[in-house]
Amino acid sequence: MEEVLTNPQCGFYINRDVFGAGGDFVTSPEVSQMFGEMISVWTMCLWEQMGRPEKINLVELGPGRGTLMADLLRGSSKFTNFSKSVNIHLVECSPTLRKVQCDTLKAVVEASYGDNNDRRARTSLTGAPISWHADLEEVPQGLPTIIIAHEFFDALPVHQFQNTSGGWCEKMIDVGDNSLFRFVLSPHPTPATLLYLRRRCQWAEPEEIAKLEQIEVCPRAFELTHQISKRISDDGGGALIIDYGKNEIITDSLQAIRKHKFVHILDNPGSADLSAYVDFAAIQHAAEEASENISVHGPITQSWLLGSLGINFRVEALLENCTEEQADSLRTGHWRLVGDGEAPFWEGPEEQTPIGMGNRYLAMAIVNRKQGVPMPFV
Ligand SMILES: C[S@@+](CC[C@H](N)C(=O)[O-])C[C@H]1O[C@@H](n2cnc3c(N)ncnc32)[C@H](O)[C@@H]1O
Repeated sequence: MEEVLTNPQCGFYINRDVFGAGGDFVTSPEVSQMFGEMISVWTMCLWEQMGRPEKINLVELGPGRGTLMADLLRGSSKFTNFSKSVNIHLVECSPTLRKVQCDTLKAVVEASYGDNNDRRARTSLTGAPISWHADLEEVPQGLPTIIIAHEFFDALPVHQFQNTSGGWCEKMIDVGDNSLFRFVLSPHPTPATLLYLRRRCQWAEPEEIAKLEQIEVCPRAFELTHQISKRISDDGGGALIIDYGKNEIITDSLQAIRKHKFVHILDNPGSADLSAYVDFAAIQHAAEEASENISVHGPITQSWLLGSLGINFRVEALLENCTEEQADSLRTGHWRLVGDGEAPFWEGPEEQTPIGMGNRYLAMAIVNRKQGVPMPFV
């Protein structure tokens, strides 16, 4: 899964812009500016709770086109003390998307170096410095830190296990007689079964496990959560993780999407997005194991998060001063972000009613205990 998505030559994310109607899928920041604006409110509230530090690292994991960060910066630009405090750090594996992020953030490049299109720049939106990194460990330590991860955890590779008469075995990939990939089951428990499955099961009740035929585990999510929690424990601040997922063990969710349609996972690897549901219960356990100085909040639904941060007031304010066309797009965008697919606040588009993201996407916060409870997880 990691190779398919991030291989430096032909990984799905590496050489193309996969977002929007002409791409493969649409994400919340691309649906409406209001998403980034609400994350801006969340970020500024946490900054207030942190005691308005003069300098912070604002880290985004997997910024896509950079739209969320641009809307966050625009949304907070009138709060000059906050704007001036921000050092932006973008964790992005794709050189193509790094360029797109540069354009979206109207970045003036000050230095380019290395083989990975590494660069240091300043955004013309607020003047904040921006730097790019291959992973969170590269982001310099020592400043209070706010981390945003929207649809990042779902791209981390998973292992799948199946309960058989011989115990839990791992689903693996083999090359069939026709030279095509196919799924096979390991004849015995694999090292991943012993290590990762066992770790995940330690965090669940035996009765919950006993009911399951399949289990999906994402060890990279444990590792990343550990890094996030350590960083927040040492430097102060907090992280907001938003993704589709559940607050329980995930059974079998790995999926492939190409050009807005589900395709077979093994069909033409590298040409479709692979993603899996995020196991928020495992993130909570991994965070709590990493440090006693942090607290974990949620998950709550995206609908509750955005509603509590004021999206309904924001849409009304924007509707007061816009064209009919813009009004349609605002209403549709608002519904897609907070609707649950069954009871739209407004009608969806006529030809194709998209599914609302309000209840399928969940939000979890990990914060340094010094900061108290973050908005709106009270
Ligand atoms: C599903 S997209 C989400 C983009 C953006 N957050 C949004 O909501 O529009 C995943 C993003 O994470 C990046 N990414 C995926 N795996 C990564 C990895 N292992 N290291 C760094 N970036 C990664 C992709 O290139 C892309 O920018």
